[in-house]
Order: sequence, then C-alpha cells, then structure tokens
Amino acid sequence: MTQTRTAPQDDPAKVAEFEARIAAGQSIEPKDWMPERYRRQLIRMMSQHAHSEIVGMLPEGNWITRAPSLRRKISLIAKVQDEAGHGLYIYCGTETLGVDRAELIQQLLDGTAKYSSIFNYPTLSWADIGVIGWFVDGAAIVNQTVLAKASYGPYARAMIRICKEENFHKRQGYEIVATLANGTSAQKAMVQDAVNRWWWPSLMMFGPSDANSPNTAELIKWKVKRRTNDELRQRFVNLTVPQAAAVNLTLPDPDLAYDTESENWSFGRIDWDEFNQVLRGNGPCNRERLAARRKAHDDGAWVREAASAYAAKQRAKQASEAA
Ligand SMILES: [Fe+2]
Ligand SMILES: [Fe+2]
Repeated sequence: MTQTRTAPQDDPAKVAEFEARIAAGQSIEPKDWMPERYRRQLIRMMSQHAHSEIVGMLPEGNWITRAPSLRRKISLIAKVQDEAGHGLYIYCGTETLGVDRAELIQQLLDGTAKYSSIFNYPTLSWADIGVIGWFVDGAAIVNQTVLAKASYGPYARAMIRICKEENFHKRQGYEIVATLANGTSAQKAMVQDAVNRWWWPSLMMFGPSDANSPNTAELIKWKVKRRTNDELRQRFVNLTVPQAAAVNLTLPDPDLAYDTESENWSFGRIDWDEFNQVLRGNGPCNRERLAARRKAHDDGAWVREAASAYAAKQRAKQASEAA
C-alpha cells in the first residue's frame, strides 16, 4: 500500500487542490495525491489500452507467414513487435498507479477485462492488413494524440512515443492499400472488400456515442480525456474520407455527405447492437483471441519460472556476499 492509496479519499480540501492543479494544466505524477476515483478510472482505461495493444497483435500476426514479399514481411513483423512494446509500456505506466501487472493480465485471461472491440474481427485477406494499418492505427492516432495531453504524466508521455510508431503503422497500411487499389481488378476488388468490412467496426472503436458514455463527463473534468468519443469519431471520418477518395475506394456508407456549415462529413447510423454483442464476448473472434492469449500465457510459463528462479538465485548470492 502506498501513501497515495491510503490518503483520505474524500478530503474536500485535497480534492479542491487536485482539481485546481488540473485546471492550471499541471500534470499529475505517480507520487502526487489523487482522488481514488481518478486512480481507478486511469487503471481501467490504461489497462484496457494495454490489453488492446497485446490482443491487437493477433489478427495481424496471422499474416506474417503469408506476407506477399520480404519487404512486406519485414515491416509487418516490425509493426506487430511495436504493438507488443506499446502494451508493455502501458502496463508499466499502469503499475505506477499501484496495481500489479500480473493482476491485470489475469483479468484479461479470465475474460473480465475489456479490450478494443475491433480486434474481434477476422483478417480474411492480405488487404485486411493494409486496411487495419490505415483505419485501425489511424483511429488509434486520433485517439492517442489527444491522450498525449492527458493529465496523468506517465500515460501522456507514453502516448507521445507510441504515436510516433503509430504513424509508421498507418503509412505502411495505407501504402499496401494504395498499391492494391492501383493493381489488377482482382486486387482492387480485394481491397474494396476489406474496406467494406472494416469501416463500421473502425467507427465503433471510438466507443459508445456521448449520450451513452457514462464515464466521459468525469474523465473530461479531470482532463484524462480531452475530447468526447463522438468528437474523435468525427475527426477520424473527416480525415479518412479524402484519403479513400485519393485511392479511388468507396466507404460503405450511402449517407456520407459533406456539411458545408459544420465542415464535417456526416455519416450513417452505427449498428450499436453489433458493438454491444462484440463487447459482450459474442463477436466473430472473441473466443479465438482469448484462447490464443491463454495458450501464449501457458506456453510462456517456463520463462516466468526461469526468471523467478534466477531472481531468487541472485538474491541468495547477494545475501551470502553481504553476510
Ligand atoms: Fe499500438
Ligand atoms: Fe499500431
């Protein structure tokens, strides 16, 4: 138990001081006092984020052995490896809030923790790898650029580094898409099909609409979030529509229309029933993803055991030297 965890939670003077610091744009650091609710909200958000990075390796990892050239294979391996790094980095950040990483990973394996709904969809063709980089990493950039200004220092700093790598991910994806879109008619059909399948799930990545997002107001007040889900979703749509036009691909929404007054692309209705089904564990690949993570965890047991044995040996050695 750290000082932070045992500090009086509802001391109004402390809360007022904390909120004044937030209002003044100061960042909150691990040893600073914070309301328990702020700490819990951050653990929830950051651990979901870390889990998403790790589970996100699975759909793309499936295509490493089938990448169409050495160059594509190298950049896909690098990207998937980056995602592992993002996950580990954010787990570290979460640990600064006084929670143990093993506990968070156990929640993921037990199926009690959430991760991004998008990774429960299958990668059916090579074009999916391009479209994921373009849409999913593109959406991650929109989200994470704003999180880089979050009030909690370790999270904000992690986002700055991660966003640099996400930019590379998005570019490698868009380059795959542009190549296929300018290829044979079969390649073009393959990439259009991938766009059709990934567009709506990518819009769902930003989470429920503001009207149904119970945590948003509090997170905005404490500057953990700086923009609402709907604002971020709109920004993603505005950025992506011209990118699709540039490679002559169509986004699967007959209601997409430019609104000159608001300067936004308005879009059709999101199928929230589908989103809720995926969140409840009933998406196309939820079971497969968790089974893959559990297997990886079990297969890695010997590494954890070896590391613990080594640490114990080192401790014994140091103790005997000190004696
Ligand atoms: Fe990432
Ligand atoms: Fe990424």
